[in-house]
Amino acid sequence: MSSAGFQALDHLPEQNMAGVEDSIFDALATAVVMLDPEWRVLSLNPAGQTIFEASIERARGTHFDRLIDLDDEWRNLLLQVQSEHFATVKREMSMVLQSGAQYCVDLIVSPLPSPTKPRLLLELNPVDRLNAISEDAHLREAQASMRKVITGLAHEVKNPLGGIRGAAQLLARELDDSKLTEYTDVIMEEADRLRTLVDRMLGPRERLVTRSMNIHEVLERVRQLTEAESGGAIEIERDYDPSLPEFEADPDQLTQVILNITRNASQAMAGQGTIKLRSRARRQYTVGGKRHKLVCSVDIIDSGPGVPESLLHQLFLPMVTSGTKGNGLGLSIAQMIANRHGGLIQCESKPGATCFTLLLPMET
Ligand SMILES: Nc1ncnc2c1ncn2[C@@H]1O[C@H](COP(=O)(O)OP(=O)(O)OP(=O)(O)O)[C@@H](O)[C@H]1O
Ligand SMILES: [Mg+2]
Repeated sequence: MSSAGFQALDHLPEQNMAGVEDSIFDALATAVVMLDPEWRVLSLNPAGQTIFEASIERARGTHFDRLIDLDDEWRNLLLQVQSEHFATVKREMSMVLQSGAQYCVDLIVSPLPSPTKPRLLLELNPVDRLNAISEDAHLREAQASMRKVITGLAHEVKNPLGGIRGAAQLLARELDDSKLTEYTDVIMEEADRLRTLVDRMLGPRERLVTRSMNIHEVLERVRQLTEAESGGAIEIERDYDPSLPEFEADPDQLTQVILNITRNASQAMAGQGTIKLRSRARRQYTVGGKRHKLVCSVDIIDSGPGVPESLLHQLFLPMVTSGTKGNGLGLSIAQMIANRHGGLIQCESKPGATCFTLLLPMET
């Protein structure tokens, strides 16, 4: 930083300095947590509250092991910094939250002087998240070029299809023999099927019909539809963050997004089991290469066998499917709608735990 920057701060009246420091602390994309000598949380910035899934009110005063699993590697690191009074940098350290979420973080631990043992300042940068951001960019490029091909192809298919259907209809009127009209029926049915497929490939209507809405009204609608569709064989477990504010979005299209994901989840669990819907607010979060003050995240979690490894990296492209019945369009449509809202969908999957996360910026 230039010395001019420091001078400007030096000239601020004393009582304003605390405010400036607080706002720097709050605006950092790096998660920062301060621990007292006994490793109880003293403070936690908003990026830290997001990564540790805990508000400062909840976290303050609790032992650090209530937030993360303090395994030997973590304990030894913190003890070493406290005994040697030296800041230490650790790259790609594994961190497991008490909720089970896993991160890989670049970590700096610094000692802060105090009368007894030093307090500790931890700065954490999740590495997976940075990789995920560049993957998002590739995904968006791949989708954009795929979409151009589909739009052109759809146009070429739809026109002659209308002609084929019309001709079959005219022919059917001229035929008396019911054996022969069976053939014209097949032509018309197949032409209709192809038209529906092409329309689905083209995706949802371009224009969003937005209004101020709460994400939980969408989740509740999906819950009712899913439970009704499965005749009760699929149960939805809710874990909502009631503090999430309303934001501008298209509720019908977002219902489609979540439904496409829950339908896959229920298919993966052979139509029986529990799907978990979890909503959270993420502060100072990057979505699609852009930082947002507040992001709504929705996790849709199932306990099925997981996404086949071979599909994981192309899951959101059209026509990618493992099913014999599906067209491989559900997730590409969902991703397209999320993108139109400035958001995106990510997936993490292993046998027994598949989690699709919808991230939606909530601009105020
Ligand atoms: N929760 C899940 N668990 C396991 N595999 C999944 C899950 N969700 C999606 N998949 C895999 O991803 C593929 C693509 O899903 P997508 O919804 O895009 O297409 P589809 O379900 O095959 O067809 P469509 O949705 O068009 O009827 C699926 O065929 C399935 O193999
Ligand atoms: Mg599907």
